[in-house]
Amino acid sequence: METMRPQFHRFRSPVGLTSVLFLVASLVVALATAQQPNDQLTGNWVVRTPNADGTFRRTYLNLKQEGQRITGSIRVTQFYYLITDSTGGADGFTITGTMRDGKSERKVQYEGKLAGNELHISTRRRPQDNPTQMIAVRAPAGEGALPARLPLPALHKVPDNGLARTPPMGWNSWNKFASRVDDATVRSIADAMASNGMKEAGYLYVNIDDTWEAGRDAQGNILTNKKFPDMKALADYVHKKGLKLGIYSSPGPNTCAGYEGSYGHEQQDARTYAAWGIDYLKYDWCGARTLYTDEEMPALYQIMGDALLKTKRPIVYSLCQYGRLDVWKWGGDVGGNLWRTTGDIRDAWDSMTRIGFGQNDLAPWARPGHWNDPDMLEIGNGAMSEIEYKTHMSLWAMLAAPLLAGNDLRSMSPAILTILTNREVIAIDQDREGKQGKQVWKSGDQEIWTRPLSGKARAVALFNRAKDEAKMTVRWADLGITKTRVRDLWLHQDIETQGPDYTVVVPAHGVVMLRVTW
Ligand code: GLA
Repeated sequence: METMRPQFHRFRSPVGLTSVLFLVASLVVALATAQQPNDQLTGNWVVRTPNADGTFRRTYLNLKQEGQRITGSIRVTQFYYLITDSTGGADGFTITGTMRDGKSERKVQYEGKLAGNELHISTRRRPQDNPTQMIAVRAPAGEGALPARLPLPALHKVPDNGLARTPPMGWNSWNKFASRVDDATVRSIADAMASNGMKEAGYLYVNIDDTWEAGRDAQGNILTNKKFPDMKALADYVHKKGLKLGIYSSPGPNTCAGYEGSYGHEQQDARTYAAWGIDYLKYDWCGARTLYTDEEMPALYQIMGDALLKTKRPIVYSLCQYGRLDVWKWGGDVGGNLWRTTGDIRDAWDSMTRIGFGQNDLAPWARPGHWNDPDMLEIGNGAMSEIEYKTHMSLWAMLAAPLLAGNDLRSMSPAILTILTNREVIAIDQDREGKQGKQVWKSGDQEIWTRPLSGKARAVALFNRAKDEAKMTVRWADLGITKTRVRDLWLHQDIETQGPDYTVVVPAHGVVMLRVTW
């Protein structure tokens, strides 16, 4: 027993226990530091990709690394994402960013590793795409951070500006030129519009879409980038042609293409537009989506509606927020002359018909001064046939939709010009009653739409959405019409009709458009 006690005491000695604990702890630390060296990724990183106009497209990664965990945010042009998932560390990491966008969620994923003072990163739009490689460098803390929300005004009814008694007609740069639009292009488009018969047919607005902006000067005035050296001179030029000039901005800090938005500068921007001689503003939600909820849209749009009115210059106000929150119900109240009802159109039969034929329920909301906008025309952009473009033109006219050509007016074929300047179809679009047409009959791929016109007249369009031609019949009694005079608006001919109906062969993806009077 005596001999055992010292051994027992030795084992329990505090010195011995400390050494063991120390050993274990050092082992844990050694293991941990071997796998997650540090917090080297922590900081604000930026990728600056030059645009051709002297501005930069920016992607920010604001990272906080704690061992194997990376948190923080990612900003890609106007999109702000919170990092919701990460693996790895400085030697190689993957981060996933998530943002709320109305009712849905958007995600981005970046892979990367630290290389000296740089962060080498890559991302893919879709899993099947090749990755885009980028180099990020350290940026000052706070640069590119999500700005604060603006206080929102109480809602009131913005007085009607008296404009757009019929749907606006003109041209917009986006569908064809996107970020390649510049001063010279706009001037030559105005030249074309003023001399090719479009102006006489009613096309008036020459609208510059996104990517004209640079930053702001020290007083907060919006600056144009080097593609637009002098906006006032450009407006003067367009006005001398008897046309009007439109511009584009966003209630958010950034536009869809990541350019400067009007956030916090609404009054100032409206004054600038008026001073330049701008006649039309398209105001695109885009960069506002991370700061505000959809329910807050009316207040944001009202700020600019009021600001435009305050300038005293007649400026058509075009709301672009893709038809969210049933904009047709409140767009007029915030001063809107027109409001987009859907996402972006593409030059494709599917896209055009999905949008155009999907407008039926919105008919009650169109009225003089306030129009549903199913987006700009794709006529002449090349991916649809002439028959399909006639369907596009006819459908937009039936819908009392704005007619904003989206093609290169300087080089279009005579056939495309003829479609865009069909006076009889334009007269339907521009009918002063401003009543939007509706579908009155449908069977499979065939649809008949009618639109009430001023006087004793009605537009009737027989659409064949099928891949084969189809014989279609319209019965006057079904439309509540008895004696009729019928004119074909694409043949430019009166049609001899006998009896209670009219039967005609409609080409595949085509239309027969009639004006019926009694
Ligand atoms: C959005 C709009 C388009 C166009 C682009 C510009 O996508 O819906 O019509 O204005 O932004 O960036």
